[in-house]
Amino acid sequence: MKEPLRITVTGAAGQIGYAMLFRIASGEMLGVDQPVTLQLLEIPQAMNALDGVVMELQDCAFPLLQRVVSTSRPEEAFSGADFVLLVGARPRGPGMERKDLLEANGAIFTGQGKAINDHASKNVRVLVVGNPANTNCLITLQNARDLQPEQFSSMTILDHNRAVAQLAGKTGVHVDAVHDLAVWGNHSSTMFPELLSAKVGSTPALELVDFEWYRDKFIPAVQQRGAEIIRARGSSSAASAANAAIQHMRLWSLGTTTVTSMGTVSCGEYDITEGIVYSFPVTCRAGKIDIDTSRKLDDFCVERLRLTEKELLEERDAIKHLL
Ligand code: NAD
Ligand code: LMR
Repeated sequence: MKEPLRITVTGAAGQIGYAMLFRIASGEMLGVDQPVTLQLLEIPQAMNALDGVVMELQDCAFPLLQRVVSTSRPEEAFSGADFVLLVGARPRGPGMERKDLLEANGAIFTGQGKAINDHASKNVRVLVVGNPANTNCLITLQNARDLQPEQFSSMTILDHNRAVAQLAGKTGVHVDAVHDLAVWGNHSSTMFPELLSAKVGSTPALELVDFEWYRDKFIPAVQQRGAEIIRARGSSSAASAANAAIQHMRLWSLGTTTVTSMGTVSCGEYDITEGIVYSFPVTCRAGKIDIDTSRKLDDFCVERLRLTEKELLEERDAIKHLL
């Protein structure tokens, strides 16, 4: 029997938390031979709701679940954590952009970055889901001074999956046939889902779809999918977001077989400003995220990479007091 790994989830009584915890406890994140301890963080006002979630976790009698800690004290929640999923943050409502949440949510990540630095395992891996995810990830890693920036990542696999599903639907194939697609930049309406390198089976995607569909339908559909879901559901995506977070951590920890998309700190790849958290095409091996630096990009792509980079630089300027 392996030693249990400690997984911290913040905002554990929220929508995404509820869609995520039971799957983590059943082994979907780290494997069906990996025991886990769940360390759940909530604000004091949500502790009653969290008690109910903990009761439900107990009532599942999951064989892999060793222990559940529920707390409103960050130092307890992050204590010895091997994996941290920072979900706890306000979601946007209809008509808002994700960056409108910076003021409400940004400060959460200074305190949590410091608490992760001081209390988590030195090898912790931290995924930021709470919006605006890239800039919140930047705040977190900048406040965790003793840890490496590579230990922090922001979630864009949901956008990647959305793009795969849209392309598969358009070309009439199963999602499994889509490869090498990537989502670049910010998890926002400037993100760039790129098809230049994508393949459907062994055929380049851009040989199967019109450029006009790509530019005028596909890109906006992926960029606006979160808002479309909010309009339809009255609240933001939860099950698909939880699924993406589990997938992100599983791939980061256990490795990828194909290229995916993750927000990670730029070291100047593709001339993106060093130090910002930007979504790149990546693979993962041995617990490390590697940016795929082999892509050939045309002017159309480069222009879009710059546009979403510009937005991230503006977001960074808006929260520089938190860094
Ligand atoms: P929710 O309102 O249902 O749940 C958020 C939970 O966080 C609440 O229970 C709240 O009490 C808790 N919380 C707030 N501040 C906290 C803090 N300081 N510490 C611990 N917990 C805290 O929202 P949700 O639908 O679960 O969404 C959570 C976040 O994830 C939102 O910011 C949303 O926009 C974002 N999101 C990101 C993606 C992505 O792809 N990156 C996808 C979906 C949602
Ligand atoms: C999403 O992409 O579904 C989330 O980021 C929620 C949102 O605000 O769109």
